[in-house]
Amino acid sequence: MLLKASPAFSILSPPQKEVLNHLFSSGSSVNSNLRFSSAKNGTGVVVCASKGAHNSSLTGVVFAPFEEVKKELDLVPTVPQVSLARHKFTDECEAAINEQINVEYNVSYVYHAMFAYFDRDNVALKGLAKFFKESSLEEREHAEKLMEYQNKRGGKVKLQSILMPLTEFDHAEKGDALYAMELALSLEKLTNEKLFNLHKVAARNNDVQLADFVESQFLAEQVEAIKKISEYVAQLRRVGKGHGVWHFDQMLLHEEEVVA
Ligand SMILES: [Fe+2]
Ligand SMILES: [Fe+2]
Repeated sequence: MLLKASPAFSILSPPQKEVLNHLFSSGSSVNSNLRFSSAKNGTGVVVCASKGAHNSSLTGVVFAPFEEVKKELDLVPTVPQVSLARHKFTDECEAAINEQINVEYNVSYVYHAMFAYFDRDNVALKGLAKFFKESSLEEREHAEKLMEYQNKRGGKVKLQSILMPLTEFDHAEKGDALYAMELALSLEKLTNEKLFNLHKVAARNNDVQLADFVESQFLAEQVEAIKKISEYVAQLRRVGKGHGVWHFDQMLLHEEEVVA
């Protein structure tokens, strides 16, 4: 640690420095920690607090970089199958990310099935088909974002099975559009709950980086998606099963952005 001298010391000349060194050479409790030397331009005095017993007690923290780095150096993997980047990343967090990847893929698959249904010639609700196609793609992008994060942290992506979704979305009372949108709302709420679980695992493992990733990249967007799909459900409940659905579908067809 290097402490600049106060202005009063700074104006001392080199001969005066010798006097100060003599004064502090014995009998003082601080003499082991203070030295006086000429500043670079030779006109001033710099007070140096040298390493000693009293120095560390100021904060109780001693950083010995060259000693401490040896421990880290011993931990650098030499086996090619092991990640070099992995640091403070538990197996539980790694597994939880893989589970969330699976959730996103499953939701993507259901939305893709809905796209295929509404795109049929005898259903022909092109706006809903477009909405679910874009939603499916977005869920896959969520999965990919998690995959990239898994790799960034030194984990391994393990893809799991995807369940077979429904093929038919018609419903006797609700009709197909409302039924599919209610299903989408349930899926978004389920995804939100799974994201909370992922965040809980991060918190339990003191993984602040994973917690921050979930918060900043997923949670806000999930709230937006739930709000938007809730509004669609409310609108579809108003319009009934017939002519109104066609207008709703046209609205979706000409809408710019999809949030799901
Ligand atoms: Fe998602
Ligand atoms: Fe979503």
